[in-house]
Amino acid sequence: MEAQIDRDPSRFRVLTGDRPTGALHLGHHLATLANRVRLQQAGLDVVLVIADYQVITDRDETGDLPAVVREVVLDYLAAGIDPDRTTIFTHSAVPALHQLMLPFLSLVTVAELERNPTVKAEAADAVGRQGRGMSGLLLTYPVHQAADILAMHGNLVPVGADQLPHLETTRAVARRFNQRFTAAQPYFAEPDALLTDSLTVLGHDGAKMAKSRGNALELRASEDDTAAFFRRARTDSARHITYEPEQRPEVANLLRIGAHFAGTTPEALADAIGAAGAGRLKDVVTEAVVEGLRSLRARRRALAADGAAVVGEVLARGNARANVLAAGTLTDVRELMGMTY
Ligand code: TRP
Repeated sequence: MEAQIDRDPSRFRVLTGDRPTGALHLGHHLATLANRVRLQQAGLDVVLVIADYQVITDRDETGDLPAVVREVVLDYLAAGIDPDRTTIFTHSAVPALHQLMLPFLSLVTVAELERNPTVKAEAADAVGRQGRGMSGLLLTYPVHQAADILAMHGNLVPVGADQLPHLETTRAVARRFNQRFTAAQPYFAEPDALLTDSLTVLGHDGAKMAKSRGNALELRASEDDTAAFFRRARTDSARHITYEPEQRPEVANLLRIGAHFAGTTPEALADAIGAAGAGRLKDVVTEAVVEGLRSLRARRRALAADGAAVVGEVLARGNARANVLAAGTLTDVRELMGMTY
């Protein structure tokens, strides 16, 4: 896939996005943000959905969406997403996308949806933490995600391992739509996954970094908060620092974060610290992150001064383009289904 991208970047429209449940954190930076900026720089057409309807898949409250969406857009821009080249849109502003979900729902069975391992895990979490049953939206959001992708004719979807089942749903929807309504000439391309090195970044407590666990380092955090975060980070009792992801997950996590920002490998970083121990490791990682995020944070502060206006303008443009693309797809789909009167 990377070779094809190098050869002909203009063939690809990348479709990916985030649920706006909070400002972006270090996990987003390592796992997805840096890669999106790379694809944008390589000349691919990148489309990012801020999936506001996905917020209510597993919770009742939407929270302060305007504030959260603003933080997410500022994080994108500060990280190097360029709104002249990359389209950023919000679900709720693009009605045609949601109408596509109706025919798409007819192309999957409930049994298939119930087998989706990511949905299952999220439903178990919703039941366990909130005593909440699986909502119809939680069960069907992979189809909604197929609509995100296919409405925009995205053909490349950067995903972590947890999102792969959803991409399989998207591919099945595209394939079955073609079989059912446009057998002579396929209409939807089956999008490909671009599997990002599924880097799981851990929070200070050793569990996966997540806003909902309260263990995340937000990109916008101050330098003092960054230092405090790493001081609290869990390590282990072995003094000598080595990179052993299986045996020493917490130390390995710090080494990966440090290496990412210092432009080296976790192994080399471990060798450089060696006998100096976990205290030194934390200092080195703190310094690498503070340095590595310095320009992002400076850009973010500059943008935030006029945040509401900047974000409003970016979304107005992004939503306008997304509406054109989705409306075009819906018109085609209605025609192929014999629904134009
Ligand atoms: N579910 C994705 C996440 O939680 C966000 C998302 C919404 C998405 N729509 C998408 C990702 C379409 C890829 C393609 O990270």
